[in-house]
Amino acid sequence: MYNSRIIGMGKYLPDNVVTNDDLAKLMDTSDEWITERTGIKERRHIIKGSEDTPATMGHKAALMALERAGLEPKDIDLILFATLSPDYYFPGSGVLVQKLLGIPACPAMDIRMQCSGFIYGISTADQFIKTGMYKNVLVIGAENHSGGLDFTTRGRGVSVIFGDGAGAAVLTREEDTARGVLSTHLYSEGEHAEELSLIGPSTQRWVPEIMAENDPEDISYYPYMNGQTVFKHAVVRFSEVINEGLQKNGWEAADIDLLVPHQANLRISQFVQKKFRLNDDQVYNNIMRYGNTTAASIPIALTEAWEEGKVKEGDKVVLAAFGSGFTWGSALMVW
Ligand SMILES: CC(C)(COP(=O)(O)OP(=O)(O)OC[C@H]1O[C@@H](n2cnc3c(N)ncnc32)[C@H](O)[C@@H]1OP(=O)(O)O)[C@@H](O)C(=O)NCCC(=O)NCCS
Repeated sequence: MYNSRIIGMGKYLPDNVVTNDDLAKLMDTSDEWITERTGIKERRHIIKGSEDTPATMGHKAALMALERAGLEPKDIDLILFATLSPDYYFPGSGVLVQKLLGIPACPAMDIRMQCSGFIYGISTADQFIKTGMYKNVLVIGAENHSGGLDFTTRGRGVSVIFGDGAGAAVLTREEDTARGVLSTHLYSEGEHAEELSLIGPSTQRWVPEIMAENDPEDISYYPYMNGQTVFKHAVVRFSEVINEGLQKNGWEAADIDLLVPHQANLRISQFVQKKFRLNDDQVYNNIMRYGNTTAASIPIALTEAWEEGKVKEGDKVVLAAFGSGFTWGSALMVW
């Protein structure tokens, strides 16, 4: 029996910084409203026409993670690519990263679990490594939100929250089962699928159909979010799934060296922090600088925490996420 362990992390953020004041020039919003409700001060947006896409950003994050892991692309046995904004409808962005990395043949899977995508990716990598089937797995989370948001006042409830970027982790086989990923806990509840969703274009709303209707009121091709419902479910599920992980491993909340929650909203993170009575050093947040980058948020945050020396060998690290689906999950590891 093996464990899996993260041995390299990387990130990539587009250069283009968009502040709350920049958004206030496009829609009826304010720095005060956004800061108070979400904690976000700025986010990154891909400049249209630049070479940044989920796959190219994921590739750059992956190269950084590989270098830090001391591995070459050819050492990777499996690529897992988590995104809700893939480059193409099909094929997935995983195969595009495989091409960019120059790996001639290996499995490359996309994971469509939105904000929980990276945790699902870690869990999937962990299962393949624990069984001995694969040794080195690359998990990427990358998003291009800005290309598909409504930057008018009509879309302000959603468009101020989300940002673009990518993060990546390299996991490898760990023979010391007291180290690495100890447990992962995954959930979905499709009953709330439409509460945070993008309905069209899709097989239910084909592009020719949308164009033929030419209905100016039709905004089904923009993401929809029932913010208050999402908030209420998020605080409950985050707490449950963190608790489950703590109990499974016999840890107390006080044992956590670092909790890296999905950067959904600073108020959600603060609620969770308070609930578990964690001090500021035990929770990592960077939503102020990047907004909610969905599947990329945890790997970007974990990379920055590691770069800042906040994750050290032997530390007890908890990752947790909640998002569209609804989906949620946690991963507990000893670094
Ligand atoms: C989105 C969220 C910040 C909205 O905050 P809220 O307190 O629920 O606000 P409401 O949606 O009730 O809107 C309150 C008012 O602000 C307005 N408003 C919405 N977005 C706004 C914006 N960007 N700027 C200014 N006003 C805005 C609304 O139109 C509404 O106006 P009204 O009272 O005149 O109708 C909050 O619901 C939230 O954080 N939800 C969770 C979202 C999340 O985490 N999503 C990611 C999940 S992975």
